[in-house]
Amino acid sequence: MSDLFLRACRGEAVERRPVWMMRQAGRYLPEYRRVRERADFLTMCKTPELAAAVTVQPVDLVGVDAAILFADILLPLEAMGAELAFVEGEGPVFARPVRCAADVGALVRPDVDKTLGYVYAAIALLRRELAGRVPLIGFGGTPWTLAAYLIEGGTSKSHAHLLSWSWRDPDGLARLLDLLADVSLDYLRGQVEAGVQAIQLFDTWGGLLDRRRFRELAVPPVLKIVEGLGRQVPLIYYVRGGSHLLPDLAELPVDVLSVDWRLPLDEVRRVVGPRLVLQGNLDPTALLGEEASIVAATREVLDAGRGGGHVVNLGHGILPSTPPGSARLFVETVKSHG
Ligand code: CP3
Repeated sequence: MSDLFLRACRGEAVERRPVWMMRQAGRYLPEYRRVRERADFLTMCKTPELAAAVTVQPVDLVGVDAAILFADILLPLEAMGAELAFVEGEGPVFARPVRCAADVGALVRPDVDKTLGYVYAAIALLRRELAGRVPLIGFGGTPWTLAAYLIEGGTSKSHAHLLSWSWRDPDGLARLLDLLADVSLDYLRGQVEAGVQAIQLFDTWGGLLDRRRFRELAVPPVLKIVEGLGRQVPLIYYVRGGSHLLPDLAELPVDVLSVDWRLPLDEVRRVVGPRLVLQGNLDPTALLGEEASIVAATREVLDAGRGGGHVVNLGHGILPSTPPGSARLFVETVKSHG
């Protein structure tokens, strides 16, 4: 039984810092690839037994202090009527990107129990299988990041469609973001009811915005979700490329702020102050180095994170080319640190 991760998220004093990794159930593990050979990614997400099996793998094989549900931030968009495929070597693709008010009008606010019940079934199964060994984290994307994928039709370098919409018609875009907030709130409430013990919001593309536009466009729908969820479980906000946003992120009513590797945690702490627990922030490419440099880089993160609450993680998802032994070395280095 371990609630180390949950106590650390609430800012309580802990005997050592907990550690987990974003994308910890994934292609770097041969055991994951074996399941993946038999089923495509969406089928794995929609089959509770398969989703549960790969969620538990990094707990058993790598020794992380929390499990994160195997799913994807884009699943609720499919439930809203956006046709989604995961194309080998390309990532997610929406057949009909959302580009105008009429496209928004064609989206629905789904009955999450009917359309996303497979996620809730996986959560219930996992709580039984984990039996308190480690807590289970649920998650969703922020409306801004969900909109980025929905509008671009997939992963994008320039985000030209998203950003041009944001300048041409900010009110129209705000209506889409508000709908995404409503659906996300329904979806995440369902995850809490099904049994997740913490929730992480992924804002992979928040860093595209300057501070004023981040406050105007991205923050209001996040507040709708966070305020709607209340304080039932700890909330973690992850932002990538958001160092310039720290003064605004410091004011979000969440428990944990998860940051990428670009700024050391002591510098993050200086800007955000003492209230928030920080999560992060080893550069995922550090795990592609030699053993001695992995240990040194991990200790650097531990040292920089000393001045307040700290959940150790990577600064973004673990890379598929990471040797599993290097992921284990990272986790063991954190666990053996006094
Ligand atoms: O962290 C975990 O282990 C839980 C599972 C999880 C996945 N995706 C599984 C996944 C989580 C938390 C996510 C979140 C997610 N999904 C984000 C936010 C975090 C981030 O990476 O910034 C985003 C942007 C997505 C959308 C998404 N899903 C993309 C862009 C891709 C393609 C890129 C890639 O790595 O292939 C995916 C696919 C995906 N999601 C995979 C996994 C394990 C790879 C699927 C496969 O096995 O082929």
